[in-house]
Amino acid sequence: MLQVCKVTILLVCVAATVHGGIHEIKQNGSKYKIEKVTDSSVRQALESIRRSASNVKELDLSGNPLSQISAADLAPFTNLELLNLSSNVLYETLDLQSLSKLRTLDLNNNYVQEVRVGPALQTLHAANNNISRVICQGQGWEKKMIYLMNNKISSLLDLSNGCRRRVQHLDLKLNEIDTINFGDLADSSDSLQSLILEYNFIFDIKNQGRVVFSQLQTLDLSWNKLAFMGAELNAASGVTSINLNHNKLVLIDADVVFSRSLKYIDLRGNGFHCAALRKFFTKNSHAKTIATASVQRATGSSEEQCTGTTLRSGPFCCEDLPAPFADRLIDLKRKEHALYSGHGSEKDRAECEKENNARQRAIEALKQQYSTTIDEATRWKQEKIRLEQNKKTLEEQVANGRRTHDELDEEMKRTAQQMELGGTGAGDQNLLNLLRLIVKRYEDMYIEQQSEQNNAIRDWVMYQQKETQLAEENARLKKLNEEVNLAVASANSTLQELNVREKNLATFLGSASA
Ligand SMILES: *[C@@H]1O[C@H](CO)[C@@H](O)[C@H](O)[C@H]1NC(C)=O
Ligand SMILES: *[C@@H]1O[C@H](CO)[C@@H](O)[C@H](O)[C@H]1NC(C)=O
Ligand SMILES: *[C@@H]1O[C@H](CO)[C@@H](O)[C@H](O)[C@H]1NC(C)=O
Ligand SMILES: *[C@@H]1O[C@H](CO)[C@@H](O)[C@H](O)[C@H]1NC(C)=O
Repeated sequence: MLQVCKVTILLVCVAATVHGGIHEIKQNGSKYKIEKVTDSSVRQALESIRRSASNVKELDLSGNPLSQISAADLAPFTNLELLNLSSNVLYETLDLQSLSKLRTLDLNNNYVQEVRVGPALQTLHAANNNISRVICQGQGWEKKMIYLMNNKISSLLDLSNGCRRRVQHLDLKLNEIDTINFGDLADSSDSLQSLILEYNFIFDIKNQGRVVFSQLQTLDLSWNKLAFMGAELNAASGVTSINLNHNKLVLIDADVVFSRSLKYIDLRGNGFHCAALRKFFTKNSHAKTIATASVQRATGSSEEQCTGTTLRSGPFCCEDLPAPFADRLIDLKRKEHALYSGHGSEKDRAECEKENNARQRAIEALKQQYSTTIDEATRWKQEKIRLEQNKKTLEEQVANGRRTHDELDEEMKRTAQQMELGGTGAGDQNLLNLLRLIVKRYEDMYIEQQSEQNNAIRDWVMYQQKETQLAEENARLKKLNEEVNLAVASANSTLQELNVREKNLATFLGSASA
C-alpha cells in the first residue's frame, strides 16, 4: 500500500508501508529529509521522489537504521549537492564517486572503513567511523575541509592524492598515525589553514621537499609521542597557534623559529631539557612573551604544575639532564620496548594507562559532541544491525581460526612425517604433542648445525690465510716481472743503439771504399 499525501507548498509528506515499515518524507524547497527508512524500504522511498529528482539538492537520511546505500540508488538525483548519512549503521565501503555534484557529505557516526567521493567534494564530515582509506576522485581542485576525527587513519597517504590537494582544514584527531611527512601535503601548501593531529601516536615528523604552509594558522600536535622539536616544524613557522602539549619532548633544534604572528604556544606535559628550552626562548623571545598567557588560557593558572622537578623556563617545567638527548631517548625506546613486550615497570604502566584514559575520555567527548537524538524504534533497529554485523565478524573470525587450526594441523603432521617422528602413529598424535616433538627435533638440528657452522668457520679462517699467502706471492711475482721487463727494455735499447751504430759503420765503410 502506498499513499501520497496532498502536496503543500512547503511540505510534501509521503507515507508508505513496506514490509511493515513506514517512512516519512519531508520537503522544503530543494531539501528533502527521509525519516524512519530502513534497508528494505530505502529504494522505494527514493523511487517515490524520483519524479522531482533533478530538484533534489539536499538529501537528509540521517538517524536511520541504514546499513548500506549505493551510488546507484542515488543516480537519478543528478543535482545532489549535500547528502547527510550521519548516525546510520553503514559498514565497509561507501562508494559515492559517481555523484559528480556532491559537495558536502556527512557520514558522522557510522562504521565505514573506506570512503570514495566524487570530484566536486568540498566538505567531508566523517567523525566516529572506522575509516582507514579515503579516495577523492579527480584532480582535487576544489578547496576542501576534511573532518576525520576518531577513525583508523594510519598515515596521510591513506588519503588519496586528490584528497590531499587544496585542503583548507584537515582534522585527524584521534587516529592511528605514527609518522607525519609534511611533504605529503605539498599540494596544500598554500591553502592549508588548520591541521589537527591531536591524540595520534606520532613520534617522528619529516618534511620532504621542505614544504612551507604559507596560510597555516593552527597546528595541533598535542598528545603524541614526539621527543624532538625538529627544524621540520619550520613548515609551520607562520602559525598563530601551536599545540605540542603532552608529548615526550626533550630537545629543540636550534633552527626552530616561529614568526611574530604566533599568539598561542602550549608546551605543557613534556620532559624538556632546561638548556634546550632556554635556548629556544632566547631565539624566540616573542614566543616567551605569549607563553604565560597561553598557559593561563589553557589551565587558568599562569604556570604549568610540575611533577618531579622545580625548574622552569618560561611557564613550562624542565629538567637539567646530564646527557639529555641520549639518556632520554634511550629511556623512551626502552619504555616502548618494555610496554610492547609486557615487561614495563609499574611507573611506565601507570603513565601509559594515564595516556590511554585521556585518549578514551577524548573519544567519549567526541562521540558526545556528534550524538543526535534518535527515536527508540530506530535505535532498536540500529542495535539489531550492529549485533548482526558483530555476529558476522565473529563467525568469520571463528571460521578463520578453524581454518588456520586445520592448516596448522596438516602442516604439523606432514612435518612430523617428513622428520619421521612418532613412527607411523604420527596421525594419532595430538597437535601439542606433535609440536613438542617437532620443536625438540629442530633443537637437535640446530645444535648439529651449530657445530657444522663452527667447522665451516675454521675452514674459512684457513682459507683466508691461504688467500693472504697467495696475494703476497702474487705481489712478489709482479715485482719480479716488472724488473724483468725493465731489464728487457734496457737490453732492447742497447740492441737498438748497436744496430744504429752498425748501420753508420756500414755507411762509413761503403763511402770509404768508394
Ligand atoms: C525552509 O528553509 C528555509 C531556508 O532554507 C527556512 O528559512 C525555513 O524555516 C524552512 N521551512 C521549514 C518549514 O522548515
Ligand atoms: C546531518 O544531520 C545531523 C542530524 O540531523 C545534523 O546534526 C547535521 O548538522 C547534518 N549535517 C549537515 C552537513 O547538514
Ligand atoms: C573496523 O575495520 C577493521 C578493518 O580495518 C575490521 O576488522 C573491523 O571489524 C571494523 N570494525 C567495525 C566495528 O566495523
Ligand atoms: C725494441 O725496441 C723497438 C723500437 O724501440 C721496438 O719496436 C720493439 O718492439 C722492441 N722489442 C722488445 C722485445 O721490446
